[in-house]
Amino acid sequence: MGIQIAPSILTADFAHLADEAKAVSDAEWLHVDVMDNHFVPNLTLGMPVVEALAKAAEQPLDCHLMIEDPDRWAPGYVEAGASSVTFHVEACRAPIRTAREIRAKGARAAMALRPATPIEPYEDMLAELDMVLLMTVEPGFGGQKFLDVVLPKIRRTRDLVTKHGLDIWIEIDGGVSAETIERCAEAGADVFVAGSAVYSADNPNEMVNHLRTLAEA
Ligand code: DX5
Ligand code: ZN
Repeated sequence: MGIQIAPSILTADFAHLADEAKAVSDAEWLHVDVMDNHFVPNLTLGMPVVEALAKAAEQPLDCHLMIEDPDRWAPGYVEAGASSVTFHVEACRAPIRTAREIRAKGARAAMALRPATPIEPYEDMLAELDMVLLMTVEPGFGGQKFLDVVLPKIRRTRDLVTKHGLDIWIEIDGGVSAETIERCAEAGADVFVAGSAVYSADNPNEMVNHLRTLAEA
């Protein structure tokens, strides 16, 4: 698939989400951060908004669930219109079952890891996934500083994917900008979430294309 950019609407104007999706029409995905005030100390949006956005946006939705009990809720986000659903392994009781349910409903299944969560315990279940999301900030808020300490984990994840001959995307989320994206790409990431970098730019679409060019270099 090559490099893909997923602007996060967390830093967009929530009163004009359809317009904000249009503002990044060159992006491959629209990243939607679902937060429940329990798994993370912030509350954003849920299924009804995802459903509305799925109809209003041209890009497929990349739904990042930062919620407790994703086992129960994740499949519903596919029904709401998400094309990719990501659950946090720290909150998930049955990640294999949950990934299979997401796939069975027709979406891509992804597992997210907080910065300090190791990838190695999940080596044998990677084949159940379409994507691994490695957080490069503690989840909860946009605009945080990129955590360089995660770079070796990006490399190790890429090595595991290669070792098993899998076609799994590696997504990076948190503090991705023109200053940090090249390091992530060099380490083996291929899908990049960017919130504040894109939506604080004068021209969000130009920033999407700029980030992609930097990652492809
Ligand atoms: C944070 C969210 C991110 C956030 C990224 O918990 O998962 O998707 O929007 O924002 P930036 O790119 O500003 O770090
Ligand atoms: Zn996110």
